[in-house]
Formats: sequence, C-alpha cells, structure tokens
Amino acid sequence: MVHHVDNLELLKRTDAQSIDLIYIDPPFNTGSTRRTVKIDGPSYADHWAGGLQHYLDFLQPRLEEMHRVLAAHGTIYVHVDWHAGHYVKVLLDQIFGIRNFMNEIIWHYRTGGVARRWFGRKHDTMLVYARQMGRQRFNPQRNGRYRTNGLNYDTEGRPYKTTRRGRLYFDARGPLLTDVWEIPFLSTVASERCGYPSQKPLTLLRRIVEASTQPGDLVADYFCGSGTTLVAALQLKRRYIGCDINTSAVRISRKRLESAGTAIKKNPTP
Ligand SMILES: C[S@@+](CC[C@H](N)C(=O)[O-])C[C@H]1O[C@@H](n2cnc3c(N)ncnc32)[C@H](O)[C@@H]1O
Repeated sequence: MVHHVDNLELLKRTDAQSIDLIYIDPPFNTGSTRRTVKIDGPSYADHWAGGLQHYLDFLQPRLEEMHRVLAAHGTIYVHVDWHAGHYVKVLLDQIFGIRNFMNEIIWHYRTGGVARRWFGRKHDTMLVYARQMGRQRFNPQRNGRYRTNGLNYDTEGRPYKTTRRGRLYFDARGPLLTDVWEIPFLSTVASERCGYPSQKPLTLLRRIVEASTQPGDLVADYFCGSGTTLVAALQLKRRYIGCDINTSAVRISRKRLESAGTAIKKNPTP
C-alpha cells in the first residue's frame, strides 16, 4: 500500500472517485534541499530550476488527477506555506472550484528559528476543498478549554454556567475546533521522530483523518514522506494508500506502518 513511484503515475492508474480523503504535503518550493539534522540522512529536493511557474506546472496535472480520483463526498487537504501557498490557492480554485473551498486552516507552532527583520514565520496553511460542497464527510472536532467567564464544574467534572434559568451545560469534550490549530512541531528529540525531513506530527494527521472520514474509508497521501498520514489512517481503522518518489521515504513509511500495526495488535483499543 506504499508505492515507490512518481505520484502522477499512481494517480493515472487510480479509479475515478475511489478515494475518500486526500492529504498532501508536497515540497513547498523553498529553493533548498530538505534534510534532517543528520547530513547523510534522507533528503529530498525542494527546488525547481524554472522557479515558481515550474513548481506550479509540476503541481497542476497532479491536482487535476486528485480531483478526478476523489469521491463525491471526499475532501482534499493541501499543506502549503508562505513560499507558494497563495499561488497554489488560485490553482486549487480553478481545479476544485471556489464554491467547494471549505477552509484555510492555520497550523500554528512555536519552534524553529527567531526572526529579527520581520515577524517570525510560525505557521503552515492547509487549503481544504470538498469535491462537492455539501456532500463532504465532516465530523466536528472538539479541543481546548472554554474561555467563558464564570464556568463551574459539577461533581462529575462537567462544565456549566449558572443562568437565571438554571445550569447551562457545555460539552465536556471542549469547544468546537476552529480553523486555527495549535499543535507543537516535532522537536528534534521527540520519540515520534523517525529521521525523515519535514515529518509532520501524528496529532495533526489524526485530527484530519478523524474530521473527514469514517472507519473503513480510503485515505491517500501522494507525497507520503515518512508515512505520517498512513500511520494515522491505520491507527484510526481507515484504509490507506500512499506513495513517494524517494526510496528512503518508502522504506521509513513501511517500517513505521509495521510498528504501528504491531502496537495495535498488542493494544487494540485506539
Ligand atoms: C514534505 S515531504 C512529506 C512529509 C510527510 N508529510 C511526513 O509527515 O513525513 C514531501 C515528499 O514529497 C516527495 N515527492 C516529491 N515529488 C514527488 C513525486 N513526484 N511523487 C511522489 N513523491 C514526491 C518527496 O520525496 C518528499 O518525501
């Protein structure tokens, strides 16, 4: 289920409307080679000789294929940053239709370098489109704490506010999640780290999979890197398909999936 192939090739072999959720985290057109701290460790190129236009020319046919393979109730998340995100948004509007645009999710983190000549760049963006607005699967997520003044907790720990009509109970799982997500970036010593550059946190991908699919659905990541999306799908009892053009990425993804599978067998409760 993890293919070592150029994603365009895999996409062309995929049936129309067969995928329930696509998440992609393509290179961001940073103009560099992405490495981990280990200099001889896995790396991938993130530069296009012809600049931004060539980067967009690379993405366009792939996004068109993703549009073809996504189910009518499907959703696509495209992970970008400030380098090219605004241009990718225009491309996505053309391919998926501006009326199908669901969200611009801001993933805010605090780690990384310090900026002294501009404001520190501490967020990535995920552009989210429904294949057909109104038909998309969506399970609202709850997270964090209520900011409401005067909140009390009953003996069972359920939050409420006292009003003239009595107790007004709030959902104990926390407020509904908005489009700004505060999730720590993986630190260099995090146990989750697998040694692949640009590895994304499992918390981020689990949230996406939970929000936009049901158990048994098929989740695809066509730039899978270390396989974070696929591991999240496996843990949450979804099916998955992924690919990467980089041999180390495929090797690492398969290894992570194997360990995740073993952990699930030992402890089947999610
Ligand atoms: C930002 S990384 C993905 C990281 C991943 N989300 C993770 O958590 O590990 C982008 C990946 O896209 C892969 N890639 C670039 N061009 C590709 C192509 N044409 N087909 C498949 N994979 C490609 C790179 O090898 C790299 O592993």
